[in-house]
Amino acid sequence: MALAFDVTRVRAAISAAYQAGIGNSGGAFPASARAVAITQSCREAVADLVGGDPGGVVLGPNMTTLTYRMAGALARTWRAGDQVIVSRLDHDANVRPWIQAAERAGAVVRWAEVDPATGELPAAQYAALIGDRTRLVAVTAASNVIGTRPDVAAITGMARAAGALSYVDGVHATPHGPVDVGSLGADFYATSAYKWSGPHIGAVVASPAMLETLLPDKLVPAPDSVPERFELGTPPFADLAGAVAAVDHLAGLDDAAAGQRRQRVVASMTAAEAHEQRLFGVLIGGLDAMRHVTTYGKAARRTATAFFTVAGKTPQQVADHLASRKVNVWNGDNYAWELTGVLGIRETGSAVRAGLVHYNDESDVNHLLEAVAELG
Ligand SMILES: Cc1ncc(COP(=O)(O)O)c(C=O)c1O
Repeated sequence: MALAFDVTRVRAAISAAYQAGIGNSGGAFPASARAVAITQSCREAVADLVGGDPGGVVLGPNMTTLTYRMAGALARTWRAGDQVIVSRLDHDANVRPWIQAAERAGAVVRWAEVDPATGELPAAQYAALIGDRTRLVAVTAASNVIGTRPDVAAITGMARAAGALSYVDGVHATPHGPVDVGSLGADFYATSAYKWSGPHIGAVVASPAMLETLLPDKLVPAPDSVPERFELGTPPFADLAGAVAAVDHLAGLDDAAAGQRRQRVVASMTAAEAHEQRLFGVLIGGLDAMRHVTTYGKAARRTATAFFTVAGKTPQQVADHLASRKVNVWNGDNYAWELTGVLGIRETGSAVRAGLVHYNDESDVNHLLEAVAELG
């Protein structure tokens, strides 16, 4: 299995798009046709990555911008007394846009809680949270700091049974394993290409029929078709070409994967997840064995993402030390604002996040553990 980090392919695709010449869409000349073709192939690639319909792939600058946009469109029909459910496990980008939209509509916000001891977001609590006034349930497919993978299918199933829509944040989950929006039951699934070796663009995937029911703010002459209706202004066409190359790269991670790109993506991401999980066992076992380290979260299903503090050191000091050893980690709340509050660490600089993906190997993990051990 070749789990190599092949960034050259993405760079080459972006460069080739510029070299071939790209104009804006809608023109009578070849450079414009190329822009249209790139956009369509990007929709197809993202759809293959997550098991969606290319006609329901909305492209945009990043997940946060797209989520504000979808919240604006969805909330147009919310009324006073309607309910919106958010979770304390989520990145703030899948919390605040919904709270602010709910406030404007007079809708009530209800919270799904995290068990601080385990980091789980128990799905059972949604039975009591969801009611006949629930319009939307926003939940993450994986925590970006403690990696918890909630039972999204159970949650979206309850939402659907009550006539509510679900908006699933797949930004952290997508690079860590195979995704199938149908099995997740997500009405909307958000992802960001820069998390899976692609350029800085985001996408929201929904069914075209669902998108047809929504009326976002838009310019009069801009296309009213779906999904174009949701896309503002001129996209970064070359970056869209880069996102296609990133999906092709992921589809090729497993040498043995065969068939259409969707099949190869699923096989490759399944192999990547197994690889990451094996390494994560070494990483989390090593961190938990150090007396000067505290790790957060131990959900039954989680991505290969460790969140930890070191006794006597601030998360910033730990990150600085690791950077000096050429180990790149994030420190702080990582926008997991509610969760770091629940864990009681937000006021003290939160923690350090060390994540593994398909291109990491055992030597990376050992190097990280040695560097953390030096702080003991
Ligand atoms: C789980 C999660 N959701 C949302 C976001 C925000 O994504 P974007 O930077 O594309 O707005 C991030 C970014 O790190 C994230 O990890």
